[in-house]
Amino acid sequence: MEKLILITGASSGLGEEFAFQLAAQGNSLLLVARRLERLQYIQRDIIKKHANVRVFCLCVDLNDASSGQQIMDYINSQGLPLNGVINNAGFGQRGQFSDIALSRQMDMLRVNISSLVSLSHLAIPLLAKHDGSFIINVASIAAFVAGPNLSVYYASKAFVLSFSEALYEELKKQGIKVSTLCPGPTDTEFFEQANMPKSPLFKHFVMDKHAVVKYALANQHKAIVIPGFVNKMSVLGAKFLPSSIARKLAYFIQK
Ligand SMILES: NC(=O)c1ccc[n+]([C@@H]2O[C@H](COP(=O)([O-])OP(=O)(O)OC[C@H]3O[C@@H](n4cnc5c(N)ncnc54)[C@H](OP(=O)(O)O)[C@@H]3O)[C@@H](O)[C@H]2O)c1
Repeated sequence: MEKLILITGASSGLGEEFAFQLAAQGNSLLLVARRLERLQYIQRDIIKKHANVRVFCLCVDLNDASSGQQIMDYINSQGLPLNGVINNAGFGQRGQFSDIALSRQMDMLRVNISSLVSLSHLAIPLLAKHDGSFIINVASIAAFVAGPNLSVYYASKAFVLSFSEALYEELKKQGIKVSTLCPGPTDTEFFEQANMPKSPLFKHFVMDKHAVVKYALANQHKAIVIPGFVNKMSVLGAKFLPSSIARKLAYFIQK
């Protein structure tokens, strides 16, 4: 039976990589982002490599309060069975909270949090109809600590982690797997979007997006998925260090 997987933020980075790896497993895809031409380029590339899958593209701005409903309306209009949702779209903005335009920070909350909550809620009834369905919510290792100089971004990822862990327990009985992917620095467009320089520290510890997504898909049965040894150690450090020290370290890294 054809399986459709929805991927938000599929026009670059981790979302694009999820698209390629899931298509290689024989899944049909609905790719969502604002840059339609990028989605269509990825669509053509996937179909060239995997003629057996169908790829649909939808240009949606997740800042829009009705974006979740727009996506569900599209899925319903196509009569496609939804088997998975990857809430991946997100962005950060480096700088002091008081210096960054409030509108930019509110946009971040809408994309990183509101759209993810809305899509999860709207998708659950569709996912519950099929065996083996799943949600992957993309958080970050930033979810485990306060992040001065990226305060709203870190806090948004803490929300994603807490929310998704709760869903993991709630949806178990309906047979829907929920996992929270918590990557560390990964080589994508994220850093340019967030106005973050790729520091020597970044160059040393950055992961390849292929490895991150491969690990995420292989560990979907886990509630929390942290790819990479250094990232696992960072999370362990954030858990066991006093928060006064952990947040100072995060501040030092984000300066
Ligand atoms: N890269 C890292 O180091 C890292 C580490 C931890 C967590 N993450 C998380 O990983 C996820 C993916 O990011 P990435 O690293 O792959 O960065 P990326 O290459 O910048 O990709 C971000 C994606 O989000 C989409 N997006 C942003 N705003 C949107 C909006 N308003 N409406 C619809 N789509 C929107 C972008 O598409 P359009 O611009 O075409 O709309 C793009 O496809 C994010 O949630 C990020 O927080 C990344």
